[in-house]
Amino acid sequence: MKIRAISGDISAIKADAIIISVFEEARKPEGELARIDKKLGGAVTKMMKEGEVKGKLSEIALIHSLGKLGAGRVAVVGLGKKAELTQDKVRQAAGETLRYLKKKGVATAASLNLGAGAAGISPEDAAQTLAEAALLGTYSFDKHLTKKNNNHKEIKELSIVAVASQLASAQKGIDRGVIIAEAANLARDMTNEPANFMTPTEMANVAKKLAGDYGLELTITEKKEMKALGMGGVLSVNQGSAQPPKFIILSYRGRKTEKVDIALVGKGVTFDSGGISIKPSEGMGEMKGDMAGGAAVIAAIGAIAQLKPKVNVVALCAATENMPDADALKPGDIITIMNGKTVEIISTDAEGRLTLADVLCYAVDKLKAKNIVDVATLTGACRVALGDITTGAFANNQALADRLLKAAKETGEYTWQMPMYEEYKEQNKSDVADIKNAGNRWAGAITAALFLSEFAGETPWVHLDIAGTSDTDKDHGYQVKGATGVPVRTLVKLVMSLAK
Ligand code: BES
Ligand code: MN
Ligand code: ZN
Repeated sequence: MKIRAISGDISAIKADAIIISVFEEARKPEGELARIDKKLGGAVTKMMKEGEVKGKLSEIALIHSLGKLGAGRVAVVGLGKKAELTQDKVRQAAGETLRYLKKKGVATAASLNLGAGAAGISPEDAAQTLAEAALLGTYSFDKHLTKKNNNHKEIKELSIVAVASQLASAQKGIDRGVIIAEAANLARDMTNEPANFMTPTEMANVAKKLAGDYGLELTITEKKEMKALGMGGVLSVNQGSAQPPKFIILSYRGRKTEKVDIALVGKGVTFDSGGISIKPSEGMGEMKGDMAGGAAVIAAIGAIAQLKPKVNVVALCAATENMPDADALKPGDIITIMNGKTVEIISTDAEGRLTLADVLCYAVDKLKAKNIVDVATLTGACRVALGDITTGAFANNQALADRLLKAAKETGEYTWQMPMYEEYKEQNKSDVADIKNAGNRWAGAITAALFLSEFAGETPWVHLDIAGTSDTDKDHGYQVKGATGVPVRTLVKLVMSLAK
């Protein structure tokens, strides 16, 4: 989809459809909508009277213009109550509308710069939000379908109509929105891709492509070097797999120093069968998405490289499968993480924390990162606690947590901080090793976070458990069934905020 800012009279624009918004309080068409209504012979007024246009958030009414306007159709979309408007509500409503129009076969669309001026939303931010909504809301993963279906239709062009004096800032917002949404869609593509395609090697290939396209520095650490580094967590998880592990490191340099301002660490288990502690077969296929965290940090640094903030960022992902095999890791085994700490394996299905432990050590000891954020589909317990709506956040540093929560709030990627009280640590105590990799049934998301905290040490660190939020089972707003691309937009926003 090509998105651009234009100025002019929306009622004259030649397009398959135009998009106009209405608030819930409106009793009759106002402003631009009133002008359109007049040209349509009062169609909108009638629909409002009859309760067909109520202005409720994401409610869509489609009106054929029958030659009375430049465009063939008008989509009137509700933005809810004006006083309750947020940027994310605009994103939700616009995402819903563009997906709806795509399904109707609309190829060219024009939209008012929805939300601009209301709720303190600048024209630039409104245009960014709209561009994001368009690309996120019309996303589909259909590369493996040999027969085309309705979802294959594409909106080829979206024009965002801005006041002439705001044209340049609207275009700036669009450019930023496109970069960010395309990054989220890349993370979605990687996560939706089945495990026989998105292997550790393929993840490394995606990183290679990004490095080439946007000038990132790339290091792929192979199994042999991982052995030399003592990455016992990743290697033990990899033992049962026929796929070689890949430790992917992408670096972005935004300022003239070697210092790493922030390390973004992602869990990259390209398939989690559970290993010898094998998972039930029902729903196991979902575990192709156990690399969503890795996909998010790789995609996010691709966007960061295009936005060019004055910050140094490194994205790290140790990619491996978790498979059962004669050589596989076994319950009862004791392994050694990169920093020398020993771990008793209670369950080979608590594999994510083993791979992340090594990478956190690497970020702390080798990179001396000033801040770390890790992103992982880590625990079913987090999904039980927060569902597929909210990401769980855990932190050893409140300033960094607050900064991340603020970024998450701004992007609409719901995130909620969970406690990390010392008392929960009891569950991770082992009689035969320094720590064990699983506790009892209760508070599983917290004990997993506490396990990770041992390897983050004193470095300010936030852990995001996206086991619930990395995919969704239905289309809603700008979200589409399948991988969500969470928390790419939050990570980008966080890094941009560090540059200020
Ligand atoms: N990848 C899973 C967590 C997960 C579950 C992600 C559901 C997405 C949806 C993780 O490796 C896992 O298996 N965790 C175990 C830990 C337990 C054995 C301590 C879990 O949550 O059951
Ligand atoms: Mn597992
Ligand atoms: Zn896992």
